Amino acid sequence: MPDNDLARVWLGDDTGGRRVEPAEAHVSVFDHGFTVADGVFETIKVIDGVPFALSRHLRRLSSSAQALGMPVPESSLLHKAVGEVTSGSAGVGRLRITLTGGAGPMGSDRGDARRTLVLVHVPAPAWPATTQAVVVPWRRNEHSALAGVKSTSYAENVIALDWAKQRGASEALFANCAGHLCEGTGSNVFIVRDGVVSTPTLASGCLGGITRELVIEWCDVIEEDLPMEALASADEVFITSSTRDVHPVSQIDGRQLPAPGPVSADIQRLFVKKAAEHPDP
Ligand SMILES: Cc1ncc(COP(=O)(O)O)c(C=O)c1O
Repeated sequence: MPDNDLARVWLGDDTGGRRVEPAEAHVSVFDHGFTVADGVFETIKVIDGVPFALSRHLRRLSSSAQALGMPVPESSLLHKAVGEVTSGSAGVGRLRITLTGGAGPMGSDRGDARRTLVLVHVPAPAWPATTQAVVVPWRRNEHSALAGVKSTSYAENVIALDWAKQRGASEALFANCAGHLCEGTGSNVFIVRDGVVSTPTLASGCLGGITRELVIEWCDVIEEDLPMEALASADEVFITSSTRDVHPVSQIDGRQLPAPGPVSADIQRLFVKKAAEHPDP
């Protein structure tokens, strides 16, 4: 169970809000985020009070909101709220920004209430040095209206992650409907073959991960359609996310892999160095 007493919470709507005690942070039972998962979110790593890659995350929040046809809160409001929950925090934290459709009818149509905006900052436990992944039987739909959108409709990920955990893994990998490698429940995936690093294209339906974006900008990576068999023949595999950074995979579907392999280790080192140099790259 997360220790919610350590959470710093900001609660409001797209016109304003304030810090509240975690025990007093309540959202309406009519909120469309609650009734139909009509919302978008961001997860951002915070180091000693400084959110990493904040500009990129706020841009993605805005494009996710636009994809759902939701007005985007003013950038000045978002920056103010971020400052109020992160400033003065020590160590590594995880900041979640959630924007939902606000109070609405019980069905899928939206009401005209203000959008709910919630920010929560909690201490983030460190990931183990390596991780294990399994491929799940369910597919990502690259044709979905939510493909590439960081929406709060994550129940498919909840099911897949539970399936993976029952098999001793910490991440579940999806193929898409075309049978190509897509992404994990909360990560993007990279494979290394003969020293060449590849990752699925955005057309695979994966989220345009901020960590993925930075690894592509900072390292030599090919974006391509990858058949699922590519996983079985990969020399190295790593996954990326805002909390995992570059995370070497030591086992895929029971097959052992070097973790980190030499190429992943170089990318990991470079990522740490660049991220330390540029907190908002
Ligand atoms: C489905 C999915 N794919 C990929 C990622 C990685 O994205 P980022 O690097 O922006 O954290 C996430 C992050 O949680 C995710 O939920």
